[in-house]
This record gives sequence, C-alpha cells and structure tokens, in this order.
Amino acid sequence: MVPDTPDEKRKESFVRLSLRFVLPLLLILAAIAYAVAPMVEQFTWRWSVRDLDMRSTVIANAIEEPLAKELSSGSREDVTTFLSHISQDERFYAVGYCASSTSKLLATPSVPAAIRCSTLERWNDPDKHILATPQGPLHVAVRPVVSEKNPDGQLVLVQDMSFISRRSDEARRYLFYFFLGLATVVSLITVVIAHLSWRGWVAGTQSLLQSVGLLRAPLDAPPATVEIKAPTPEFRPIARDLQRLIRDLEAERRARDESQLTWNPETLRAILHGELRGEDVIVVSNREPYIHQRRGERIEVQRPASGLVTALEPVMRACSGVWIATGSGSADREVVDAKDRVAVPPERPTYQLRRVWLTAEEEAGYYYGFANEGMWPLCHIAHVRPTFRSDDWAHYVAANRKFAAAVVSEAKTANPIVLVQDYHFALLPRMIHDALPEATVITFWHIPWPNPESFAICPWAEDILNGLLGSSILGFHTQFHCNNFVDTVDRLIEARVDRESFTVLHGGKLTAVRRYPISIAWPPSEEMVSKPVADCYRDVRASNGLPPTQAIGIGVDRLDYTKGIVERLLAVERLLDLNPQWIGRFTFVQIAAPSRSSIDEYRNHEATVRALAERVNGRFPGTAPPILLKIEHHEPQQVYEYYRAAELCFVSSLHDGMNLVAKEYVAARDDERGVLVLSQFTGASRELPEALVVNPYNVDQCAAALHVALTMPAAEQQDRMRLMRGLIAEFNVYRWAGRMLLDAALMRRRSKLQENAAASVPAA
Ligand code: G6P
Repeated sequence: MVPDTPDEKRKESFVRLSLRFVLPLLLILAAIAYAVAPMVEQFTWRWSVRDLDMRSTVIANAIEEPLAKELSSGSREDVTTFLSHISQDERFYAVGYCASSTSKLLATPSVPAAIRCSTLERWNDPDKHILATPQGPLHVAVRPVVSEKNPDGQLVLVQDMSFISRRSDEARRYLFYFFLGLATVVSLITVVIAHLSWRGWVAGTQSLLQSVGLLRAPLDAPPATVEIKAPTPEFRPIARDLQRLIRDLEAERRARDESQLTWNPETLRAILHGELRGEDVIVVSNREPYIHQRRGERIEVQRPASGLVTALEPVMRACSGVWIATGSGSADREVVDAKDRVAVPPERPTYQLRRVWLTAEEEAGYYYGFANEGMWPLCHIAHVRPTFRSDDWAHYVAANRKFAAAVVSEAKTANPIVLVQDYHFALLPRMIHDALPEATVITFWHIPWPNPESFAICPWAEDILNGLLGSSILGFHTQFHCNNFVDTVDRLIEARVDRESFTVLHGGKLTAVRRYPISIAWPPSEEMVSKPVADCYRDVRASNGLPPTQAIGIGVDRLDYTKGIVERLLAVERLLDLNPQWIGRFTFVQIAAPSRSSIDEYRNHEATVRALAERVNGRFPGTAPPILLKIEHHEPQQVYEYYRAAELCFVSSLHDGMNLVAKEYVAARDDERGVLVLSQFTGASRELPEALVVNPYNVDQCAAALHVALTMPAAEQQDRMRLMRGLIAEFNVYRWAGRMLLDAALMRRRSKLQENAAASVPAA
C-alpha cells in the first residue's frame, strides 16, 4: 500500500530507517555470539570438572571413616552394598575401592572395565581423569582412604558427566537470550538517537538549501511547515559559501552559455520561446524605426539616423511583438489602423509599430525641452549648459504617462516584458510598475550617466531616480556609467544600495544595475555589403567630383554638439598644416543628419560647423576640397557605401554612451582594410582598443592619428581590422538583447519562486 498522508509517510520512513540501523546491529551481535559460544562451552566444562574434583574430595573425606569401619568389620558384600548406597546419587555412575594395587576392585556393578586396581595410578593425573564411554564421558576420581588395615586403600568415584553438556546447553541458551536482550536495547537506543540527530540534520540541511534558494518548500505540505527558516547557526557559514558559489556558478554558466551560443535572430527567438515561453515583448522608445513621409503623391518610408534604432530594429525583427514610439512623419497617421498600428518592416512585416501622438506643445516641452535641452546636456557633459523649465517638466511627465497608458493597452498579459529605451522615459518604468506590478521592465539608458555632483543640478533629480528605479533591470553601456548611477542614488535618495550584487532597493522594488554594451547586427545584412569595395571606392569619388585616387576620411553623425564635429574638422585642418603633402590629396567627407534643429544650441552648432568647413576649404583651395560637408539625411545603404570607400573613419565624440558608427565602419570593411580613429570618450573605445584612440580635445594628437591612419601599411590595417571584427562578431546586438532577456528570465523565475514560498506562509 502506498502511504498517502504525511503521517503515514513519516511512519514508513521511520520503520525503514529503524530497519536500516537494527539489522546490521543484530548481525554484528549474532557474529559475536557465534564466536563466544565455544569459549563458554570450554569454560563450563572446566568449571564442572573442577566441581566434580572438589565433590569427589569432599565425599571421600566424608565416607573415609564409615568405609574403614565396613572394611574392618564387614564382608566383601557389605562393602559393596555400602558403596552401592553412595552411588545412588544420580550423578554417581559407579563407586569402587581398592585395598592395594594388587587387590581386586570392590565396586558397584556399573563400574567400567577399564578401571582396575592395577591401573589406578593413571586416573590421578588431573588431565587424564576423563573416561570416554559410548554412554558419554565419565569423571574418574581416585582418593586415598587410609585405615590401619589398608594403608594403601583407594576410593574410586566415577561420576556421570552428562550434566555438563546439559549445563552448557543451558549456558548457551542464557547467552543467546542475553545477547538478544542486549541487541534489542542497544538497537533501540541507537535508533532513537540516530532518528533524532537525522531529523535535526535533515531540518538543518533543508533550511540551509532553502535559504540559498536551492530547495523549495513542498507546496502540498501544511502551511506551518513551509516557512523558510534561516539556517541554524552551525549551517550559516556553509549557507554563505553556498550562496556565493551559486552566484559564481550562475555567472559562469551564463558566460559559458552565452559564449557557446552563436548569437543571431534565431538564438534570440529561441530564448524568447524557451526561457520566456514565447511571451510578447514591448519596446518603448521616442524615435520610431520607420517614418512615413508624404512626398507629393507618394508616401516615402524613411529610416532615422539613430543608434538606438540601429540596435533595436534587428532585435525586434527577431522577437516580433510591439514597438511603441512617437509618430513623427507627415504621413504617419495615414498608414496606421484604428489602433494606431502599422506592420513593419514595410518590405516584410514581422512586428507591429504602435504610434503615440503628441501635440506640438507636448513635443516642444517633453522632447525638445526637458529631454534634449535638459537631460541630454546634463548627461553628456559636453560643456553645453542644461536648461530646466517647469513647463517642460510638466510635459515630460504627461508624455511619460501617455506612453505608460499605451504600454498597458498593448500588454496582452499581466506580466509583459517591457524594454524601455533612453532618457526620454525616465519616469515610465515606475509608472509601468504601478500599473502592471508583475511586468518585467528592462530600461536601457543609451547615453552616459554623469557623476552625482553633475546630476544633482537637475531640479527633478529625485523624481528621475525614483522613476528609473521602477525597472527590474537598468542597463548602461559601461561599468563606469553603472557606478555613476549607483553613486548618484546613494548620494541623492533614500535607498538600499548593494554594491556586491549591484542592486538598488527603493520604493519596494529591487533594481539590478547592469552593464550591457550595445552593438550592431552581425553579420551585417547582405544588402549593406553586396556592392564590391572597389565599386564603392570608384562611385563615391566620382559622385562627389573627387579625383579617382583621392584619399577619403569619413564621419557619420547626427549634427549634434556632443559628436565633436568641430574638433574633427579642426584636426583635418591641423593635418594639412603639419603634413602639406595631403593638401589636394585628402578629403574628409562629413555626413551629418540634421537633428533637433528647432533647438537654438543645435542651430548654432550647425552654423558653426558650416562656417568652419568653409573656412578650412578656403584656406586650401584646389580641385578637391579638404572638407565635404553633407548635411542631409542618408539611408543606411548609402552610408555603408561611404564606409567601404573611405581609407579612414573618424569618430571624435566629446562624450558618447557607445557610438555605433565606430562598429558599423568595422562591420562594413569585410575587405579588412581601413583605419578607425576613435575618441577615448566613447563607450566603443573600451571594446575596440585596436582603433587609433585619441582625445578629441587634443587637436595635434588627432592630426597625427589621421596621418598615421593614412600611411598605415595594409598588413597592419588588416591585423587591427581582424581583431575588431572578431570582437563585434562575438558581441553583436543579438547578444546584447539576449543577455538582457536571459537576465530578465532568470529574474522572473526567481521572483516566481519567492512568490510561491510567500504564498504558502500563513499570514501573521
Ligand atoms: C541618441 C539617443 C537616441 C536617439 C538618437 C537620435 O542616440 O540616445 O535615443 O533616438 O540619439 O536622436 P533623435 O532625437 O533624433 O531621436
């Protein structure tokens, strides 16, 4: 019968446990008894023989006198009768008397034939006084019975020894009972002690394993028994070590799993289906991945110049789901359905783009105002003073609310995975958490995070931190920015910061702060690199009216003051000053996508850049200008053509979270040629040390790097390019997203476990 109730189960395990202890114990005791039995028999035998010897002496002494009388007065028959009287004792087998060694034995009829007066000597030997007969052994004792008439008289006492075997049988029986009793008592004591200590050990081990999360309390157990207890004091050091070990193993396993995977769209899809059971992913960003623009009768689809879009678009293609973003194109409203959705990419739709509409005032306050005049310069520290207006802040709050409502309406379940992007949505994580407490919110901050002193100048610093700490995971490109964030939290608000696990507990929510260096799709899509390098080389020069062998440098940015475009153009000028052999032979092509142009700072910046390019070109007149400024939107495919045509790419950001242009240039160069000159203030410089890393504020150093790049031997270009391509191939954007999603999956599993445990603990 299978035990059903916990009581029956406990009884059954007790019986099993007892048998496990008792059986071996009984076996051991039986073996001891078996070894001891012959010893007991020997002892009983010796003891009995000694007994018979003594008895013989006592009897001989007792009858000495009466026997002497009988011998002196009585006939042979009288003596024999006397002896027969004595032998009536049941132990006596026969009694005899020899007057001398030559006389005839006077004895009871049963005396064995082997006993004769002439051979009495031999029975005196204490070792030889046992006579073996077919009836059994007999004890023969010869004792002197001296009288005047017979000075050599000897009394012969023959005793039956069968009682000895009876006695040893009895002794054996007692011994058996003794050992049986002993075995039972010892077994019982052992079982009780073992059971008590076993239960204690099991309970200790259970609490230890539960405390480190390796064991879950049984869900069917009565509530009172499932409380997760802290391990007992003696188990605590082991619990701590075990926790540390599990953390290390988890990190190691993740790193191993991660590095063993080939990261591509299929891997990402597999993670969503396997680890996250195919749950829908919602992405929220301000900038939309596809912008529908009206051009007369036609609607044109544009892809914005945005690192964020470059990174997330391939991820969304892999994951499907919904991307929520601000509708910004002139034909955006025309193409959406009743729920403001349009399926994208237009050529082969795989996910939904949900557009959120902002009024002109909202856009001015939230996007241009607070996000780009406040947060952007605040976080970049590019020497542009941040501007904070309360009206902008109010719009920022309202816009975040609008997006929170869109997330709630798009969520198909109570616990979606929401990927919140960037500084436009610092308040959104907390709003989502409030509305959908079970959602897993992963926020990625694409721009740098400044030090606490710089951040503290924001009048709404606390609100922003509180908003961000509604996230389950908060990601930055570099560890430096993670540290800055945690320092800022520590300095500005009441929160529990754990620097070992890099988590922050605030407002009842635990946020893990993690480094996820963003990257690009690898391998780059076929259409980007299908045009041969030689064709790109030729066409780019021809279409720009440059000589066919002109050396070209390329810069690709949004026209933004953080990108160091001014510093870059000054470096080109310095190169020509220091190395005049490049005059007329080198042209730097700066592609600059117009950006945020209604902000004064950006308009001024554009003017500065234009003026600078004009001035430098004026200084070095000729058939080929040193600077070609192309302030207009370029589609990714055109940009790749420039990358493949240029001898060098110059990324001179004054401060940049990552900078994907650097990685794109490397990805575009499947011919393993070209040199990357890279600002030390970009996140990318931490990953691509094979670039020529420069300080953009140091114009001489930058000019020297340009010269080194232009004269670098092909073999060295190849070596550097290969290493950089290897890194990007290994750490591509699928891995970036995959790592976040894997961490989210782990977090969800953990919290489910805790919820289960908490649900089974009775309310106080
Ligand atoms: C940076 C920001 C992105 C932004 C992009 C383009 O990379 O981190 O969030 O989308 O610039 O800027 P824009 O203002 O045109 O969206």
